[in-house]
Amino acid sequence: MTVHFIGAGPGAADLITLRGRDLIAACPVCLYAGSLVPEALLSHCPEGARIINTAPLSLDEIMDEITAAHAAGHDVARLHSGDLSVWSAMGEQLRRLRAAGIPFDVTPGVPAFSAASALLAQELTLPGVAQSVVLTRTSGRATQMPQGETLANFGATGATLAIHLSIHVAQKVRDELIPHYGADCPVAIVWRASWPDEQILRGTLATLVEDAAKGPGRTGLILVGPAIGAQSFDESRLYAGDYDRRYRPVGTDPRFPAGSE
Ligand SMILES: C[S@@+](CC[C@H](N)C(=O)[O-])C[C@H]1O[C@@H](n2cnc3c(N)ncnc32)[C@H](O)[C@@H]1O
Repeated sequence: MTVHFIGAGPGAADLITLRGRDLIAACPVCLYAGSLVPEALLSHCPEGARIINTAPLSLDEIMDEITAAHAAGHDVARLHSGDLSVWSAMGEQLRRLRAAGIPFDVTPGVPAFSAASALLAQELTLPGVAQSVVLTRTSGRATQMPQGETLANFGATGATLAIHLSIHVAQKVRDELIPHYGADCPVAIVWRASWPDEQILRGTLATLVEDAAKGPGRTGLILVGPAIGAQSFDESRLYAGDYDRRYRPVGTDPRFPAGSE
């Protein structure tokens, strides 16, 4: 028996890996985080599967379900939105599974920031403009940010910021970032990327507060930085015709001659 943690993707039911889909189809028990996981994914569950929305359950109650499945020898598909590496609450579940000696594995999913970047058709790292993406959030009612992980500190780097769980505190985001990026810094807000009601709003830090109020609720991502919408940036050296590289030796004395290791 194994608990399969599966990244369910950002919303569209076809944005799940083949491995994730096949695991759902093979598990007689499916626990899914109902607030953001699309119900359409549950159609992959086998007939008669025990399917439980964990949104109203406590961690203890979720563990009770898993422990019962373990006792019965039933594999479990555990679905969380996006990818499991960020804000999935997987860590605390794995800690309990390790303590209980219950086997598990993890299958990645498409995170919200990737879906937002795709919807915008926007590379978040552009040569000469930004080469880092910070996946971050602001403090919420349930989660305080660790000291040092402030928007101001991340903003001081000039990187592209992908700010989650923060649509409702747009004013704080604006006020903390304007001193670092300037009021005219480009911003894109993407709500519910890949869902049928997905929405984009492009603006600047100066318009962020009014823009954030125009979207369909809180499930949105705020992307901030000079890379957003930039047209003036360098081309990547990797594909430059004169760039001598292992896969495309150039000139009479290439750095990596054909056949070299
Ligand atoms: C609890 S976090 C889950 C993140 C998820 N594990 C991931 O990999 O992206 C939820 C937040 O992610 C963002 N989010 C999730 N799905 C989204 C989507 N389809 N479009 C835009 N933002 C989304 C929103 O900021 C939302 O408040």
